Amino acid sequence: MKTLITGIKPTGQIHLGNYLGAFKPAFEYQNDYESYIFLANLHALTTFQNGSELKNYSENLAIDLLSLGLDPEKSTFFVQSQIPEHSELMWILSSLAPMGLLERAHAWKDYKNKGLRDPNLSLFSYPVLMAADILLYQADIVPVGSDQKQHIEITRDLASKFNNKFGDTFKIPEELITFPIDVPGIDGRKMSKSYNNYLPIFAPENEIKKSIMKISTDSTPVEDPKNPETCNIFNIYKLIASDTEIQNLKDKYLAGGFGYGDAKKELLRVYLEYFAEAREKRTKFENNIDLVQSILQNGKQKAQAKAQQTLELVKQNTGINLF
Ligand code: TRP
Repeated sequence: MKTLITGIKPTGQIHLGNYLGAFKPAFEYQNDYESYIFLANLHALTTFQNGSELKNYSENLAIDLLSLGLDPEKSTFFVQSQIPEHSELMWILSSLAPMGLLERAHAWKDYKNKGLRDPNLSLFSYPVLMAADILLYQADIVPVGSDQKQHIEITRDLASKFNNKFGDTFKIPEELITFPIDVPGIDGRKMSKSYNNYLPIFAPENEIKKSIMKISTDSTPVEDPKNPETCNIFNIYKLIASDTEIQNLKDKYLAGGFGYGDAKKELLRVYLEYFAEAREKRTKFENNIDLVQSILQNGKQKAQAKAQQTLELVKQNTGINLF
């Protein structure tokens, strides 16, 4: 069986775009790969620096993922910071990481282009930690969003360089771009936390309703036929509704006499139904935090065994293992 790894940064409430674009496709691979999935809290720390909030987001994200289909029987689920081997390998890889390569990394370039000053070292070395995350587990594939492609390329560069210098040590991983289509947000732009245009998954029903009611539409009068293809409500709807439901709603748009308010109500209905099981599961996990903790503890043990094995080989090959 091939190995898969992916990390998810705990930096806020998760939304429909995260689920459809990243989690759902990653969870679908659980059956076919030996899967490692982790909370990338060390990566979150590069930009998110509020201790109690980071802890809170991390715990919530763990519960969210378990509720949405991360199956701890199939995947090794763990917390990055609980496995010090990540940081250790990162240091070793740093010695092979050319400054020029890291200077070309998007996150760093964006930061500089925005004219921001006083960047942190961790922002610069972000891709090196990510390479360590991936290489420790000898992963074959890394499901990520398209914005992360460059990081996997850097990972490959570092792995090949290491293998050339110190002998065959790391498997060379491939990215698997999970969702090339962007999920539209309530204002029609790509759904994103930074645009604040997202539909939350686990917020109380009335909050979800409020967000759906805010979806922007054009001003076609109720009586007139409407174009489903250019409507934000419809474009979100078609990602989560069944084929029959999609066809029915389309017919209603085209027939006229059906207002956007009605369409929003229909979207809300389908949305709540789509996440009903996950929302129920979430309540169960919330009431059983010990279970969540023991899942992560178990994951830590399994992941660390693998990480230690790789790091041992790295230490031997680099000559830093004395006696
Ligand atoms: N940088 C990734 C993101 O922002 C998160 C991440 C950290 C990751 N380490 C990883 C993803 C290792 C895949 C593999 O989405």
